[in-house]
Amino acid sequence: MTSILQFADIHFGVEDTAALAQLEAVIDRLQPDVSVISGDITQSGSEEEFEAAAKWLGGLPGPKIICPGNHDTPMYGIIDRVVRPFDRYSDYIDPHDDGEFMDDNVVIQSMNTARGVQMKLDWSVGVVDMDELEQIITRFHQAGPDRLRFLNVHHPFVYPPEAPLQKETDNGPEALARLADANCDAVLSGHVHIPFVVEREPGGSELLSVSAGTLSTRRRGNDAAFNHIVVDADEIAIRMVSFDGTEFLDSEMFRKRRDELSEWRRGAGAMRKEAVVLDTQG
Ligand SMILES: [Fe+2]
Repeated sequence: MTSILQFADIHFGVEDTAALAQLEAVIDRLQPDVSVISGDITQSGSEEEFEAAAKWLGGLPGPKIICPGNHDTPMYGIIDRVVRPFDRYSDYIDPHDDGEFMDDNVVIQSMNTARGVQMKLDWSVGVVDMDELEQIITRFHQAGPDRLRFLNVHHPFVYPPEAPLQKETDNGPEALARLADANCDAVLSGHVHIPFVVEREPGGSELLSVSAGTLSTRRRGNDAAFNHIVVDADEIAIRMVSFDGTEFLDSEMFRKRRDELSEWRRGAGAMRKEAVVLDTQG
């Protein structure tokens, strides 16, 4: 069994201190094999916020798979934001990031969809670098066909109608189609500050999209929350773990047998393509 905690949008600087104070006991109970952090670790990308974030990550047990969000570049300091948008993130967060997690059940990779500045008015919109995505897909292929494949990003590639934000990620639909073609099973994301699971919709999400809530005070009508994803040989279960102001409570959002999930994969044709990729990798 693999126990995965998915955190997003903690926004150190405006973090929910009451929730974080209770978190250690919950983590002890959930016994994570790995923690996934889906970006927006800080509120304004300041030195002090990154220091607090790094301290928190240092206390989190086990391996960690982390990606930055649009808030993890210096909000105040346009030169830093243009010239070295992720230097501070690299200094404080990268030392805590294991880069890849793989066990018998899952393989997890991260990708940065945030940018310091963009050629558009809204710099908070996500962008998928399709070349970088190909490198990650190669790693998924190398992990073999038997593990569930999860990609961790900050910006969702699909938004459910109830999401309070609806800004399409640049190349998001193309990335979803490519990931589905490569038999990826789920995209884990944050950004919208509400938990959701979007099941596969051919022509739509194409694979599972899983969003964690926020552990910050910047909430959009929901309690502070994170996700607990459990994968064993037979099934995947996704639970929301939310803080009601006093304690964390679990509620199930999604459960599916792995053989049903694998039916979503593209079948023998895709497996043949994998074999070719593996051959070319030697
Ligand atoms: Fe956020």
